[in-house]
Amino acid sequence: MGEVDPAFIQPQEHRPKPDITRAEGIPLIDLSTISSPNSTLDNDQALGVLVDEIGDACKSWGVFFRTQLLSLLHISLPMRNSPGGLISGPEYPADLREVCEEYAKEIEKLAYKLMGLIALSLGLPEDRFHGFFEEQTSFIRLNHYPPCPVPDLALGVGRHKDAFALTILAQDDVGGLEVKRKTDGEWLWVKPTPNAYIINVGDIIQVWSNDTYESVEHRAMVNSGRERFSIPYFLGPAHYTNVQPLEELVNQQNPAKYKPYNWGKFLVTRKRSNFQKLDVENIQIHHFKIPESEMAEKLD
Ligand code: OGA
Ligand code: NI
Repeated sequence: MGEVDPAFIQPQEHRPKPDITRAEGIPLIDLSTISSPNSTLDNDQALGVLVDEIGDACKSWGVFFRTQLLSLLHISLPMRNSPGGLISGPEYPADLREVCEEYAKEIEKLAYKLMGLIALSLGLPEDRFHGFFEEQTSFIRLNHYPPCPVPDLALGVGRHKDAFALTILAQDDVGGLEVKRKTDGEWLWVKPTPNAYIINVGDIIQVWSNDTYESVEHRAMVNSGRERFSIPYFLGPAHYTNVQPLEELVNQQNPAKYKPYNWGKFLVTRKRSNFQKLDVENIQIHHFKIPESEMAEKLD
């Protein structure tokens, strides 16, 4: 395979398709009315419409765009090859640390607002999720995808679902993200939209909502011409959280579909694989799914 490490070569069924299908239908939701730092949800007249839009997007796609990029992001894009998490920012260069920390602070506010809207869309109080994030495991990753000599055989990030609650992804204009359409399993290319984040529902929301919303499967393609940068922010609850369907959303007719699982343990197990191709399946929320037969017994 010449200069390409065979570890990067995907099995046939996971390789990108030569002809790209664009994800035309991903909803573009304008959050400008609630994105100013001091805005509250209560006085927003358009709130009902927004909540419906978000609920529909979470249900049908598990992913939506949010317009208006934080201006900080433009400062942060000179950043180069700096992988690493951001509970506190990278040590060098000092400017980068500052920009990352400021970015994290702002994006966190946005994440809370989105969680508030998602709570409302599920018929819950706006602050229903906030307690989970008083201590948190959220982090930012700086993804750098160098040009790839064999883009049709490899992927930048293999298919996966984000295990956290919510992902807010900023990307440059190169593009490469693909999402799997829920209706037919087709992989669709997400065209980079200027001034918009891509928000996707993660596994934890899927469990909390007892499958009302489903996390979206996605992957990232590479290309032979241009390097690409993307910056996902993952919102995660405290490590000691036992993730389980919210009690308000389960009842006799709609029993809990998942057993509780400890988020910290889940995360540690997941991190060990670090997106490598695995021979065995990595830990997944469906491992905690309660079989239908057991749910039926409980009803009897
Ligand atoms: C991720 C991810 C996609 C991208 O980091 O979890 O899915 O477009 N990234 O970089
Ligand atoms: Ni992801």
